[in-house]
Amino acid sequence: MNVYDGLRIAAMLEHHGLVQTDNVSDADIIILNTCAVRAKATDKVFSALGRIRRAKRPNALFGIVGCVAREAGATAFRRIPDLNFVLGPQSYHKLPQILDNPDAKLLNIDLGGLEKFDELPQMERSPRVAYIPIQEGCNHVCTYCIVPYTRGRELSRPFNDCLRETLHAAKTGAIEICFLGQNVNGYKYTDENGHTFRLSDLIRETAKIPEIHRIRFTSSYPTEMTDDLIDMFRTEPKLLPFLNMPIQSGSQNVLSRMNRPYSLELYTNIIDKLRAARPDIQISSDFIVGFPDESDDDFEQTMNIADRIRYINSYSFKYSPRPHTAAALMPNQIPENIKAARLAKLDTRLNEIQREFNESCIDKTFECLLEGPDKTGRHLVYRTPFMQQCIVPTCADAPALAMIKITAANKASLRGKFA
Ligand code: 5AD
Ligand code: SF4
Repeated sequence: MNVYDGLRIAAMLEHHGLVQTDNVSDADIIILNTCAVRAKATDKVFSALGRIRRAKRPNALFGIVGCVAREAGATAFRRIPDLNFVLGPQSYHKLPQILDNPDAKLLNIDLGGLEKFDELPQMERSPRVAYIPIQEGCNHVCTYCIVPYTRGRELSRPFNDCLRETLHAAKTGAIEICFLGQNVNGYKYTDENGHTFRLSDLIRETAKIPEIHRIRFTSSYPTEMTDDLIDMFRTEPKLLPFLNMPIQSGSQNVLSRMNRPYSLELYTNIIDKLRAARPDIQISSDFIVGFPDESDDDFEQTMNIADRIRYINSYSFKYSPRPHTAAALMPNQIPENIKAARLAKLDTRLNEIQREFNESCIDKTFECLLEGPDKTGRHLVYRTPFMQQCIVPTCADAPALAMIKITAANKASLRGKFA
């Protein structure tokens, strides 16, 4: 979501005649797009602002957008008095106001609007993978999560707007579409005739666009994985066989304290249905370890579920108490050293499973999408249908979509050659 927001902000500023620079001391305007989901990310924002303040040109404008802006609000100006703007995740389309009036202080952390999507100019060229936000905010109120506070209640964009943006992306270079939302599979839009559209409708329509070869969506909430959507994995070959569906914890007790009221049985049933619909489907998850009052036994159940589902790619985090969340006030917060030990243990196991899956891909051939050159420029990075990185030697006229045979694998990536 932040990558998408960043691209839209960059396109808007280019529309205003600005060009991008990587050099802080050259810039006329410096914008930090921020994430508030864990305390560490938030802390980094303020130390980065301190560095930028010293490195920037004296009259360059600087400020923050995104969830830290929403969380910090006016206190950001108190911490860094010469900051020029603080704009929440639903008000960054107001940025041109600061270009018109650079002496003002601009603060807007309002919620509830989708105007930013309509007010911003469209991108002239789309990346090969186009992110299309279709839903923003979240109604689930997991007790650890700041997102319902920073991005607000769940809003689904009008179906036709989503389709229009998807078509525009296809006509301007996109090959893969990734639908985005904090709770993307909860997408639901009812038009003026009372017709309700779901994510499955959007996938079905997008699959008809000839330029689009790959479709995916992220992030999914388990109980919103409805049968119409599961069926898409059976009927729609352009939908990639890869799904991010975070479980967060393998302990039923922890899940209920997290206010994620689904049973492990329901979760595993959904995975069984997905595998019946698409036998090669692979799942990724997010995990939180060290949630308040998590016992050794609770944690072992998380280890067990990781083994049982065999997630091929996961993000695991130490629980981080956040403002405006219920879990921050719960008793029996877990000490840092225990959180760290549990994270290390889980990560080791998740990495092994990931490496085993990567190794199982050797000698198989997949259609992969070109991401671009690697850092050395000697290799090209492609993405498999399971979103693994696959590295091939650079060649002239490398096709955007190529059949690649996997020749080697480690935990982080695959190597391959054109088949
Ligand atoms: N502490 C640690 N991880 C968190 N996440 C969300 N809130 C917190 C928190 N307070 C993780 C969840 C979510 C991902 C985006 O970030 O795993 O799926
Ligand atoms: Fe946060 Fe995701 Fe839970 Fe929504 S479903 S409250 S975004 S963790």
